[in-house]
Amino acid sequence: MTYQDPSTLSPGTKVDQYVISGVLGRGGFGITYLVHDESLQKDFALKEFFPEDLVVREGTSIRFTAKPHSESDYRWGLKKFYDEARLLAQFSHSNIVSVRRVFEENNSAYMLLDFVRGSTLEKWLQGLDSPPTQEELDLIATPLLSALELVHANRTWHLDISPDNVMIRATDGAPILLDFGASRFEIKQHSQLVSALVFKSGYSAPEQYTSNADRYGPWTDIYAFAATLHRAMSGQRPIEATSRQLSDELRPAAVIGKGRYRDKFLKAVDWALKLPPQDRPRSISEWRKELLQGGAAPAPMARTRVLTGGTRVLESPLPFSSARPSAKPAWPFGLDGPSTSIAAVGGLCLLLIVGVGVDQFAPDLRLNPVTYVKAAGRYFAGGGSSALCGANTACWGVVVEKNGGVFARVNEPSKEEAESGAMNLCAQKVGPGGCRVISVLSKKECWALAEVPSNPADWRGANGATLEDAKTSAKTTCETNYGFCRVGMTFCADGSSRVGGTD
Ligand SMILES: Nc1ncnc2c1ncn2[C@@H]1O[C@H](COP(=O)(O)OP(=O)(O)O)[C@@H](O)[C@H]1O
Ligand SMILES: [Mg+2]
Repeated sequence: MTYQDPSTLSPGTKVDQYVISGVLGRGGFGITYLVHDESLQKDFALKEFFPEDLVVREGTSIRFTAKPHSESDYRWGLKKFYDEARLLAQFSHSNIVSVRRVFEENNSAYMLLDFVRGSTLEKWLQGLDSPPTQEELDLIATPLLSALELVHANRTWHLDISPDNVMIRATDGAPILLDFGASRFEIKQHSQLVSALVFKSGYSAPEQYTSNADRYGPWTDIYAFAATLHRAMSGQRPIEATSRQLSDELRPAAVIGKGRYRDKFLKAVDWALKLPPQDRPRSISEWRKELLQGGAAPAPMARTRVLTGGTRVLESPLPFSSARPSAKPAWPFGLDGPSTSIAAVGGLCLLLIVGVGVDQFAPDLRLNPVTYVKAAGRYFAGGGSSALCGANTACWGVVVEKNGGVFARVNEPSKEEAESGAMNLCAQKVGPGGCRVISVLSKKECWALAEVPSNPADWRGANGATLEDAKTSAKTTCETNYGFCRVGMTFCADGSSRVGGTD
């Protein structure tokens, strides 16, 4: 909470069922509050539509000022506010803030968002005692590029990427993209509206200062993202595009960061900061190849960095976190429409494969572990109980993760076999490199995954000595991070108790 002024709702005020705790931030179009939902005992961020030039606060309600057109402008703005909420609701990505609902009250509209505990990237940068390292920038850029790629796959541009619109989550250091207030569906672009947008000097691409919205594209967000990286490295907001057009005095990243950051990374930032749109990368994937190591590989999931009081702590990665834009299998079961191709862009899906011999499955084959178990000839059929998992025999399962996709090999006689099976499966399905073991199960041990029902991109998994233990532990870990979660998937080392997952 940064400040309190008379035009904001004061702490203790109730809006619907949410009690205001304070103000998180304020822009020309709205005020974002920290609120508490007493029934759920949970904090949220509540964004109030409050176009300060058009309205004044009266009690808790708002009223139009006497300015001409204020009511029609207000209606237009309100529609834009709803557009923002609807747009956000389309995306399910662990690095894009989740919207829960939008509603009207107090003669205004409110958007309920998941509260991201942490600080904005701007504040985070300000709190560092030295410029961020290459590794830190990679950890921020990688998941954000994946988030932006999903946005762009919807033919939508964010148009307001800046260090103020990215939160660094305190619990795990994941960057979360906020504030889609300026974003536009390509088809909805209306040139007359463009000038009404509020641009952040230094981060907006030059084409955003013209009324020709036809020139917007992925390269517009790429400019803003590069400007954000430039600010991170230089410690200063970049020179505004319009003044660069008159005389370009922006110091190239290649000069500012020489020796401290990868040459290729610096070059990629400078490429993305070219003034003519056509000179910049055309797509996130084109840019990523230069910006990030590992080039064309799908973006890794959000890694875990925690900032505490200005000190940078690089924690060992959390067990895992996921970015799963769609519950629908995106791969390897074929792409059959826009929603699956969006998911495929992120390269992220939850994929559970159990049993022996599944490596050869064809894309159209529905996995049936029992069938495979039988075919392998070493196990019982019948949903999981296994001869090899008796009192005197071993029974192993290994769970591997990459980019939010989960691969499991269970019902194996040794840990090594289970591990190599799961690793091979992962490598085969989503490419080598980056597959890592997140859980090892022996005998009757089980694994469970709990997810946020409205946003299955947010999940946590855990193993346990019993199915119940695993479920409880996954639910608790998930709820500690995200609030209410439900168990979405389970299985045990012996192949039993398999629920959920994508075949
Ligand atoms: N979900 C959220 N969790 C935590 N803080 C938030 C959240 N949404 C917004 N904020 C804070 O409020 C500020 C303003 O929100 P934002 O969505 O960027 O609106 P605008 O810039 O249009 O006023 C952000 O910079 C951030 O500090
Ligand atoms: Mg903002």
